[in-house]
Amino acid sequence: MSRSAHPAGPRHADVLPEGHYFAPPADLNVLEPRVWSRTVDRNEDGVATVAGLDVTRLAEEFGTPAYILDEEDFRARCRSWREAFGEAADVFYAGKAFLSRAIVRWLHEEGLNLDVCSAGELSTALAAGMPAERIALHGNNKTEAEIRYAVEAGVGRIVLDSFQEIVRVAHIAERLGRRQRVQIRVTVGVEAHTHEFIATAHEDQKFGIALANGQAAEAVRRALKLDGLELVGIHSHIGSQIFDTSGFEVAAHRVVGLLKQVRDEHGVELPEIDLGGGLGIAYTPDDDPSEPHEIARALREIVERECRTAGLAVPRLSVEPGRAIVGPTTFTLYEVGTVKELPGLRTYVSVDGGMSDNIRTALYDADYSVALVSRTSTAEPLLVRVVGKHCESGDIVVRDAFLPADIAPGDLIAVPATGAYCRSMASNYNHALRPPVVAVRDGAARVIVRRETEEDLLRLDVG
Ligand code: LLP
Repeated sequence: MSRSAHPAGPRHADVLPEGHYFAPPADLNVLEPRVWSRTVDRNEDGVATVAGLDVTRLAEEFGTPAYILDEEDFRARCRSWREAFGEAADVFYAGKAFLSRAIVRWLHEEGLNLDVCSAGELSTALAAGMPAERIALHGNNKTEAEIRYAVEAGVGRIVLDSFQEIVRVAHIAERLGRRQRVQIRVTVGVEAHTHEFIATAHEDQKFGIALANGQAAEAVRRALKLDGLELVGIHSHIGSQIFDTSGFEVAAHRVVGLLKQVRDEHGVELPEIDLGGGLGIAYTPDDDPSEPHEIARALREIVERECRTAGLAVPRLSVEPGRAIVGPTTFTLYEVGTVKELPGLRTYVSVDGGMSDNIRTALYDADYSVALVSRTSTAEPLLVRVVGKHCESGDIVVRDAFLPADIAPGDLIAVPATGAYCRSMASNYNHALRPPVVAVRDGAARVIVRRETEEDLLRLDVG
């Protein structure tokens, strides 16, 4: 959807901020490939399909709301990340975006590693057979129990996030008779162009150890002295949903600067650098993200150039994409319950889910697109707000979008690009039951995370 200064706005254009008009897409029935997973299409009856499966049949079989995940798309994205970075680099999928046992198996089969940030994610990874040495543990406040669990399991790396943690991990490893491979997470002081809540490299925040004031160099000094730790590298993650590589360039420059300082001071060349995740995806057709091979080339060139200038051997590079792998693979399928036209204001289309299955619009003012998927329509475009069923007026799924003006109760609509940070941030607000994740591939569908039931809610309520 494009914001334009087109004076002949659609119905209800008067409620948009002054000077902004939404131009409806040329054909509302077209499912733009940029925001839909690669096997999405429409059949001859006009019903949307994914992996050859009709969405109305999926809704009948699995109910709505449901997250429909295109497994082929997921695997293809894993492969393109791995191939783009090649043998000289490692791709760690960031499990926080969405994790389940099936996801772990696919990652394993496609040759990716896994970044986890809690005991829960670690146990899912191990339960599904991810080799521990291919797992990295993150987090700004890992508990002693989480650290012990990870060290005992033999995770490939723990990313240290504070001075206390350097000592904590070292002691735990020593007590267990281990030498734990670790990286130090630094904050490089980059202002990433993204929402404040998901920017992580500016100095005033809870993650990492600051480079600029010398604390990161001090962290290296301390880590190198501890027998329980094998310091293998430096880690930086600048934020999330980022479209340009300039922030990574500054980050790589500063991280390599620290490697040089470490070499000069300690005579040690740390062999790894991790530039984190954060690469953006298309939530609407206006977004234009880079392809993995473009990102890989840019990051490799930056690191090689910086190392050449610093006279360092090029360290092994790793990256941690979450959203860019799983985000585009999934759409959320909803059924329309009510359509409320407020004359002169706007039309509210209410669906059977909402902020409990997608908190991103409420939390980050995120943009999404939406389409009518159970049929096509030749009705004129109507500017609507898609809202959920929660007891809160901020319960918005898609703030401003066009649907055909004949949108009606019983229609199925779908919101694409909901694979990342939707199921993983889903809640039981209003005792909503979290939707299932249904994986589809080659004409077959299977539930990989089942829908919650009222019994699930009552099981936890032991009072
Ligand atoms: N590595 C580290 C250390 C991270 O903290 C994150 C995300 C990633 C990798 C993966 O970032 P990605 O490639 O998925 O952007 N809930 C927010 C996003 C929070 C991201 C947290 N860290 C959202 O819905 O936009």
